[in-house]
Amino acid sequence: MTFELQHTDNASDARTGLITTDHGQIKTPIFMPVGTCGSVKGVHFRELREQVKAQIILGNTYHLYLRPGLEVLRAAGGLHGFNGWERPILTDSGGFQVFSLTGIRKLREEGCEFRSHIDGSKHFFTPENVMDTERVIGADIMMALDECPPGQSDYAYAKKSLAMTQRWLDRCIKRFNETEPLYGYHQSLFPIVQGCTYKDLRQEAAKFVADKDADGNAIGGLAVGEPTEVMYEMIEVVNEILPKDKPRYLMGVGTPQNILEAIERGVDMFDCVMPTRNGRNAMLFTYEGTMNMRNKKWEMDFSPIDPDGCETDRVYTKAYLHHLFKAGELLAMQIASIHNLAFYLRLVTDARQHIEQGDFVQWKRSVIDQLGRRI
Ligand code: GUN
Repeated sequence: MTFELQHTDNASDARTGLITTDHGQIKTPIFMPVGTCGSVKGVHFRELREQVKAQIILGNTYHLYLRPGLEVLRAAGGLHGFNGWERPILTDSGGFQVFSLTGIRKLREEGCEFRSHIDGSKHFFTPENVMDTERVIGADIMMALDECPPGQSDYAYAKKSLAMTQRWLDRCIKRFNETEPLYGYHQSLFPIVQGCTYKDLRQEAAKFVADKDADGNAIGGLAVGEPTEVMYEMIEVVNEILPKDKPRYLMGVGTPQNILEAIERGVDMFDCVMPTRNGRNAMLFTYEGTMNMRNKKWEMDFSPIDPDGCETDRVYTKAYLHHLFKAGELLAMQIASIHNLAFYLRLVTDARQHIEQGDFVQWKRSVIDQLGRRI
């Protein structure tokens, strides 16, 4: 994988770039739809390609390891072979999911013991076996195994946790370097910066990660309950240290406003369940603000969902989508997911264009307040 830095903004740390993988190119800034179990919930790949214009999707090591499991994935030729997505894929390492999904887990130096959320069976993740698993899944970008500590962690816990995440990173890198891709195309490993909301820990973590000279770097442990301003400050602290010539990925973030603020601070890659999860819950994101499609105010609104949006937005009306949600029709969730993902991709594409034009900061200022309104 290579990263070419294309434009840097004069008035902020925003930049545009081009990632090249063996499965194709990714223009940054980019939003990556989440496909936890190998599918982006409710969205056919055709729509993902042609309407959403997704350039890369995510998969989750935790979920894919439990189901369908490594035997099936290996036999299928990896996740690309299994689900038929021909563009790049990134896999999260499972660390975050183990912490957020499995109540019962035991964390120790060797790794992390957890019970499956599906059948309660016991499993053990180590930096080594997670690298092996991500090799089997065959993602173009593999994430290192980390601990994402709870948002309210005290300094002592955050420091101890970071030290372990760093030792785990060294073990990940070692295993990664000792193993080969299984399917003939290149895979990259991205380390993850942790350190909670403590500036000195974040700086230390960023230096540690920068020294690894990986193909790209990620910022984790944010949007876990800290105030938004603190998240922005942590991004600034970390991005001051992370190499400029490598892509920076802010994990699990966030709202359209969060994404624009992070782009301004030099982040290139994003993922979040919000567009799909909130979409399934009848919430649509637009440049004018968010809309609750269950609201009676849409009952007689026969205007398209978004006249400037993707084909789905132009074909279906607000009144019809309101009706589908009220009737509990599956199509409601599908339309809302496509709309929201297409909007997120449009947002980052517009950001890219404004960075290139040199008016990113003015543009961001002109749209950001509206994005947070409820209409
Ligand atoms: N997704 C959102 N935040 C995180 C994080 O801190 N670590 C990992 N591995 N995945 C995440």
